[in-house]
Amino acid sequence: MGISVASQAQLSGGTALHNVTLAVNGTVHTLSIDVRTSLLDALREYIGLTGAKKGCDHGQCGACTVHIDGRRIVSCLTLAAQAEGHEVTTIEGLEGVDGTLHAMQQAFIDHDALQCGYCTPGQIMSAVACVHEGHAGSLDEIREYMSGNLCRCGAYIGIVAAIETAATKMQE
Ligand code: FES
Ligand code: FES
Repeated sequence: MGISVASQAQLSGGTALHNVTLAVNGTVHTLSIDVRTSLLDALREYIGLTGAKKGCDHGQCGACTVHIDGRRIVSCLTLAAQAEGHEVTTIEGLEGVDGTLHAMQQAFIDHDALQCGYCTPGQIMSAVACVHEGHAGSLDEIREYMSGNLCRCGAYIGIVAAIETAATKMQE
């Protein structure tokens, strides 16, 4: 006999668990989680992909940026359940299948576009989307469309230069 929702709730300390199926970097994961679980927590705590970082958990820093169907989103303000039926890409899924770094990852290295690195996965995921959106046409445009990604180390000069370099390579 199947376990009832009420019984499940009792077993999980009063919280009903639900199955949520996520396609992340080409792999499907079915998680039994509280429906209130954010995509960020699902990725980090349940799937073990810790590239996306928790900076503010309030949609203000961009450290948790990932892609859903190629569009950038802040995963701390997105429920895991909202990503069902969509393709999630994290920083771990950005490199090529042979391990070749994405042009944006390489450009961040080449331009020393980081210090502590905490904001970097979110910066890179946002930067890739920024280029795909067509919002990397000038340094001013890059600064404007990357303004949702904060860097407490102040590595902005290198970040903007890296995006300008990678944008050229991505369009070749
Ligand atoms: Fe998501 Fe800061 S952790 S925006
Ligand atoms: Fe430290 Fe950006 S490199 S917060």
